[in-house]
Amino acid sequence: MDIDWLGSVRLFVHVIAATVWVGGQLVLAALVPILRSQDPGLPKIAARAFNRVAWPAYWVLVVTGVWNIAAEHAEAPTGWTTVLAVKVALVALSGVSAFLHTRASTTLGLALWGALSGLSALSVVYVGILLAG
Ligand code: HEM
Repeated sequence: MDIDWLGSVRLFVHVIAATVWVGGQLVLAALVPILRSQDPGLPKIAARAFNRVAWPAYWVLVVTGVWNIAAEHAEAPTGWTTVLAVKVALVALSGVSAFLHTRASTTLGLALWGALSGLSALSVVYVGILLAG
């Protein structure tokens, strides 16, 4: 069995960062009602703590994503570039909606940007799996 050690580390770091960015959002959303029932100020404190790990994970995804392209582009099948373009658009949407969610001051804004952030983050995982083939 031929093992591509560097390629496995590249995907490992990409996937771990995805678990933090995407899984973290889902877990935080699940915890918010419990935190709020203890103290209405707790969700904001937890969200700030999550942001400190989530944004570094997002930038790790961008850097390892560019590395993925450099490593995989040459032998990519037909249609790969189109799927990649969809993914890059979803990554941008995921980042922008998460940022606007952190800046929202109304309940409607929080709910809308939060929902879009979670949905786009989940969609990026699906499209990433399509790319990996
Ligand atoms: C929110 C950000 C991102 C998430 C959640 C994410 C998630 C994923 C996942 C789950 C995979 C599949 C890994 C596997 O099945 O082995 C993947 C693969 C891939 N991702 Fe990302 N990704 C993100 C950002 C990016 C960015 C910004 C780029 C490009 C600039 C990118 C390019 C790629 C490529 C090219 C692959 C295929 C790698 C291969 O076949 O070796 N990703 N991504």
